Amino acid sequence: MTTFEQRFGQVPEVTASAPGRVNLLGEHTDYQGGFVLPTAIPQKTTVGLGRNGTDTHVLYSANLDRTLRVPVGEVGEDFAPYLTGCLNLSGVTEGLNVYITSEVPSGGLSSSAALEVATLRALRELYGLALDDVELALRGVQVEHQFVGVQCGVMDQLASSLADTRTMLLIDTRSLERRAVPFPAGAEVLVLDSGVPRRLAESGYNERRGEVEEAARLLGVKELRDVTDISVVEALPSPLKERARHVVSENARVLEGLEADAVTFGGLMNATHASLRDDYAVSHPLVDDLVVLLQAHPDVFGARITGAGFGGAVVALVREGTAAAVGEAVLATYGSLGKVVVP
Ligand code: GLA
Repeated sequence: MTTFEQRFGQVPEVTASAPGRVNLLGEHTDYQGGFVLPTAIPQKTTVGLGRNGTDTHVLYSANLDRTLRVPVGEVGEDFAPYLTGCLNLSGVTEGLNVYITSEVPSGGLSSSAALEVATLRALRELYGLALDDVELALRGVQVEHQFVGVQCGVMDQLASSLADTRTMLLIDTRSLERRAVPFPAGAEVLVLDSGVPRRLAESGYNERRGEVEEAARLLGVKELRDVTDISVVEALPSPLKERARHVVSENARVLEGLEADAVTFGGLMNATHASLRDDYAVSHPLVDDLVVLLQAHPDVFGARITGAGFGGAVVALVREGTAAAVGEAVLATYGSLGKVVVP
């Protein structure tokens, strides 16, 4: 792999990193004012920046070994919008050399948010931007909405900007209030990549968001966060009923998880998987297979698909000290498509 210096013939003026995240509970709730409970993963994305004295940005991804050239102020294609979105929203008017390298696997672990947060951190340092860590995350969300075309919620960028690997971060996505929550005693996190590519994830995601907005409108509430009696969703037509049932029940699971022991927490994760598979329809048969294998392992408290879904990663809560062995055992049956991400 080349370095910034080899690629651009200069040293970077600034370098910044940001981690991916894995979400334990609270999936597809963050665009309806709900609760989420992610933690950071050790894998990071790193972005180096240097002025190049021209009016063109030169964007290099070391993972893809691909260079894109985009005139200042334009958006570009391929992976460029993630970067040019950050540059344009931050008022950059000169050409930059940008070097990206990432350890965050794509698919459910917020590789996009890690790229945005790392880029915005580097820009904040280079230009002395007056952005706190929450504002920086929200700018990343704006990049997704305006430049990438994904109508995502606020969880991923907030988690990448604010979470650490030692605790879970409870976020109330309506008020943006947050608090660190310890992992259940005697448990640790295992993350596996199912190896199933997330086909149609963007269109499926935006479609789900439209469905729950419609459900909220029909129920006469601002957001599904405001539904406290889950039985009211039964009056909705399908599939809005199922979609709303997922969101409302998922909010309750997050709140229950805050005080739960490992066994109860694991049970909540299993219930989340069933709800994402059956009501929200964002799982995939191969991912379901992997989750079943995990759930059957004696050292696993609970397991589920994580992130937007449609393929991608799974997360399990396992007995402390067993994550590596559980990962290996389960992948021996699941097959070579899968990979251990954490530990
Ligand atoms: C993606 C989005 C998040 C969130 C999750 C699902 O990761 O970027 O905002 O909606 O899906 O929980």
